[in-house]
Amino acid sequence: MQPIDFPNIQSLVLYAYKDLHHATYLMLHIEHPDLFKQWLCDNIENITTSNVQAESTALNIAFTAPGLDKLNLSQHAYQRFSREFKEGIATEKRSQLLGDEDSNSPENWNWGGPTTPDIDVLLLCYADSESALETLVAHITSELEAYTTQLQQLNTQALSDRKEHFGFKDGLSQPKITGVHTDATENDTLAPGEFLLGRESGYGTTTPFPHDNNNFKHFGKDGSYLVFRQLEQDVKGFWHYLDQQNVEEDNKVYLATKMVGRWPNGAPISLFPTKEPDHLNPSIANDFNYSDDPQGNHCPMASHIRRTNPRATDLGLSNKKDNIASVNHHRIMRRGRPYGKPLHKNLSPTAMMKADDTEPRGLHFLCFNADLARQFEFIQQTWVNNEKFNGLYNDLDPLLGTRPKEHGPSGDDFTLPQNPIRRKLKNIPQFVTTKGGAYFFMPSMSALKQLTNNNQ
Ligand code: HEM
Repeated sequence: MQPIDFPNIQSLVLYAYKDLHHATYLMLHIEHPDLFKQWLCDNIENITTSNVQAESTALNIAFTAPGLDKLNLSQHAYQRFSREFKEGIATEKRSQLLGDEDSNSPENWNWGGPTTPDIDVLLLCYADSESALETLVAHITSELEAYTTQLQQLNTQALSDRKEHFGFKDGLSQPKITGVHTDATENDTLAPGEFLLGRESGYGTTTPFPHDNNNFKHFGKDGSYLVFRQLEQDVKGFWHYLDQQNVEEDNKVYLATKMVGRWPNGAPISLFPTKEPDHLNPSIANDFNYSDDPQGNHCPMASHIRRTNPRATDLGLSNKKDNIASVNHHRIMRRGRPYGKPLHKNLSPTAMMKADDTEPRGLHFLCFNADLARQFEFIQQTWVNNEKFNGLYNDLDPLLGTRPKEHGPSGDDFTLPQNPIRRKLKNIPQFVTTKGGAYFFMPSMSALKQLTNNNQ
């Protein structure tokens, strides 16, 4: 396998900037392509690459299909981008498969939908302090204001203990990449071409990459597709629903834990089936699969983590290696961050059950993959948004499902197949609503240079 070309890859594809707690995303419409190209050319050295450790700030850049078109990418190379990317996330067909219907419909989105202006560019700004982030964002916006229109400035909010708004530790399970992560285990290590175009994929073939033989040689190589979805969370609704269940206080948190598949501190319910341990040793945070829990007695089939990564055991293929390979064709590299003030500052479930404010808050969900259809869209369509997932009947993802669905099964059950009696939560309301979305491409450094040099 070819070595990873670290200086050519934008750092966010490979690393999450865990020490840069502050982030802002800028979405821009390009008004003057040539001037924008000049800005990019002047600032190319400020883009953070994966061969350096980002110290106090980091900056990355990605484009939508209309954005690349505006910068005169050749038609030959443009046409070789995937259909999903060129069509964009908000087509009727895609909305159906992603569950972006009814209240999630692109018609209602704040950005990225048919009624909002076209996004061309996404700038992702990170810093280790609020003031450093403000300085970075102010500098970029003042430089760009003459030749772009800023459509959105989406801020983020780091929550205590790296949790998301429902109160559960996030960012614990990520795939590893051969040649990048040295602490990888065999089952969790994916070929670079699962995330980087033009590299060897899990099928042993080269992931297709857009290019031509003239100005855009190898253009797509070492770039990655970036999914961005603004997912608003009804945190009050989530904890009030659990509070209404006729069980003791501790068991309300236990039910929420069953929905996620991990305790609030991130401990997997598969390893700690009855009680949250005081402390989660990071080395065992992913040291489990579901082979000794075929009925979902510990971690329910319907739970969020079991359906977004069935970990080799749930696909029913006879050979374990085939199962692992199959699941690993559908992995994503998550880079999301929460936004909005927490419902309670320490995200205490008991306090959130009593809290009463509905200020907007949620997750800016971002993930990288090399094949939008096979990775992100497959997870969303076949696992998250499928009430018949893995032998279930009327259970959508308990966190993400659109409920009740207007057509077909209502999808508002959550089945806990515990011995001796199976229990079902019924009439689960919708807790997450899509408020915006777009597909971007994050080019390699050499591709960015090709864009700035091209004056067709
Ligand atoms: C507001 C929306 C969401 C919330 C609150 C949420 C929350 C969580 C939490 C708490 C975890 C466990 C921590 C970890 O394993 O890293 C997790 C894991 C995960 N989530 Fe989400 N998530 C959301 C949206 C999504 C979406 C839209 C997808 C993909 C379509 C997704 C895919 C995953 C995956 C792949 C994992 C790791 C599963 C594993 O490897 O065990 N999540 N999420």
